[in-house]
Amino acid sequence: MSSTAPLNKQLFNDIRASILAGNVCPGTRLPPTRELARELGIARNTVLYAYDRLTDEGYTQTLGGSGTYVCDTAPDPALLDRMIDSSHAAGTTAARDDSRLSARASELLSNAGASDLQVGAFVPGIPDVSQFPRGVWQRLITKVWKTAGQGQLGYGSRHGHPPLKRALSEYLTLARGVNCSPEQIVVTQGTHQAIDLCARLLADPGDLVWLEDPCYWGARSVFRAAGLEMEGIPVDEQGIRLPLSPEVSPKLIFVTPSHQYPSGVVMSLPRRRLLTEVACAHKAWIIEDDYDSEFRYQGPPLPCLQGLDPHCNTIYIGSFSKVLYPGLRLAFLIVPLELVDAFAVAQSEVYRGGQLTVQAALAGFIADGHYTAHVRRMRKIYAARKAHLTQELQRQLGDQVDIIGTDTGLHLTVLLPHADDRSVSQAALANGIVARPLSSYFASASRSQNGLVLGYGGVADEEIAGAVRKLTCAIESVTRS
Ligand SMILES: Cc1ncc(COP(=O)(O)O)c(C=O)c1O
Repeated sequence: MSSTAPLNKQLFNDIRASILAGNVCPGTRLPPTRELARELGIARNTVLYAYDRLTDEGYTQTLGGSGTYVCDTAPDPALLDRMIDSSHAAGTTAARDDSRLSARASELLSNAGASDLQVGAFVPGIPDVSQFPRGVWQRLITKVWKTAGQGQLGYGSRHGHPPLKRALSEYLTLARGVNCSPEQIVVTQGTHQAIDLCARLLADPGDLVWLEDPCYWGARSVFRAAGLEMEGIPVDEQGIRLPLSPEVSPKLIFVTPSHQYPSGVVMSLPRRRLLTEVACAHKAWIIEDDYDSEFRYQGPPLPCLQGLDPHCNTIYIGSFSKVLYPGLRLAFLIVPLELVDAFAVAQSEVYRGGQLTVQAALAGFIADGHYTAHVRRMRKIYAARKAHLTQELQRQLGDQVDIIGTDTGLHLTVLLPHADDRSVSQAALANGIVARPLSSYFASASRSQNGLVLGYGGVADEEIAGAVRKLTCAIESVTRS
């Protein structure tokens, strides 16, 4: 400390500079005030002033009288990469020219739904990957690679790795109430690929698919790319409300019965039974997307629809994206026995197989009980995180705020009947917060509702209050204007 500024300011400046330069790591405890004052030969009040100012300005925090700790204020590297990447790309990439694209491509691109930002508060559908048991996974991968021969490094069999299908069929029978043998499982690279196979194999361009309204944007994109006609069917508190006498029969009915996306409604048993009968009468296939129902916070997970379809007309899709991590790109279909061969051949013709070492590691992960243990542990973490987010929303937006869809999964929805949710979403994004507008999930403008779909799976507890503060500002700025 050598300048002419007051000592307390010099001390504040020195510590702040060390924190900003990364010389003092987040979580480091600053020396006790008395000790530092003695060491520097200055008054304790001088140190107290500097520490208070550091805390006021967010460089440090005091934890219940146990001392002053350096906060983690560095930007999330993944978020930063993404932002720098996209600003860099914006400056260097040529403007898109769609004039030579197909009509299908134009349709797909003009309705694209995937967000550019895939990390941070409150991207829906992202699990907390920091909790993934990397040590166990690394051991399993290493074990597989020790003995992996030509077979495991090639395209593999058409259906996927047999031990994975055996482990999965055992797990799903117990945990999800599916009715299946290992042969009925076809492994795919994610849910979108599974939906795409259904669209290509069970319908022709121009055929009709019924989708819940609101619905997962990704399913719509895949059906659109396959050239299918889509009709949004309303959802009430019991799930999809099937039309009494439709003019055109659907070929496919796409549903999320265990946790309607994004509303969170759980389809009632009478509605499930009605759906299986109606599908059978129309000779339509039901596609059940069971994407995150392991995370149910009120009571045990509900059995799936496929297991209670007396007509065996339901194709089940499961994914590892929510329980393990999305970049794994592994999902699976459970198809009726008479369709297995068609799906397996098509899978290998259109996409080819592969990823057998990962499938082998995953088989071990499930068979050794790690999968069930991880689900159980994460369920507790997400339940606490959901409670924390709900509390913060109520605290900052007022008790009267209407929050729906909190029983299951990794997201909830805040209804905003009096605000334009797309404007709120844009204002939030300008503050680095992803809050997808509920209205964007609806096909029909007359049914549409305003709200924000907020994912909390990948948001650390300590980030929640700050992120809700930014969200509240965005809502206030839109409602004020
Ligand atoms: C309803 C729903 N189904 C499927 C998926 C995607 O699963 P996958 O990562 O296996 O493609 C998501 C992802 O957010 C989803 O919300």
